[in-house]
Amino acid sequence: MPTAAEASVGAAVTRTPRGYVTAMSLTGDEIDVVEAVKADHRTIRALFATITTALPGDRGRVWPDLLSSLAVHEVAEEIVVFPALRMIEQGEPAIEARLAEQQQAAELLSAMEDMDPGSDQFAAALGELEAAVLAHARAEEEEILPAIVRFDDTLDRTSLGSRYETAKLRAPTHPHPHAPHTPPGNVLGGPVLHFMDRLRDRLG
Ligand SMILES: [Fe+2]
Repeated sequence: MPTAAEASVGAAVTRTPRGYVTAMSLTGDEIDVVEAVKADHRTIRALFATITTALPGDRGRVWPDLLSSLAVHEVAEEIVVFPALRMIEQGEPAIEARLAEQQQAAELLSAMEDMDPGSDQFAAALGELEAAVLAHARAEEEEILPAIVRFDDTLDRTSLGSRYETAKLRAPTHPHPHAPHTPPGNVLGGPVLHFMDRLRDRLG
């Protein structure tokens, strides 16, 4: 029986022990990086819709999924999507703006980990987080993804798609605002943080 969040996320995305992944990547099918990022955004929007309409006492059931989906998605973008774009166009200002937004979201997420999901303090932070993340996702869909499509002949979108899905499997499942957000630091440090986070998820 799917949870409300899973039902709203839809069939294109599947929940696994390591978080939400695109169903295509599980079957080994090739996936376009643009579609993979959009699928993550749909998942994240659906999880926000679920948690913001839940009763305070029920928020804690959705929160771990939202937290890990955001943490994993942002790191995979930082490892695969942004560096690819840096190589092909003078998109530095757009990328820098998105990285700054991801840093702010990581700091807010990290602070929210210490809050009771049923509290008013958490609800206020959640409202702030939702506004920031949805604006960030919109900016990516308006600036970052179209640039990838524009340079279709230079970039291999399916190869990027599989690298993106692989990066998600090794990405930390909790925010680490003080960890590097650019390669090589995030590539080298990611698996260690991933291991520590999985241990924490299992013990928590
Ligand atoms: Fe994104």
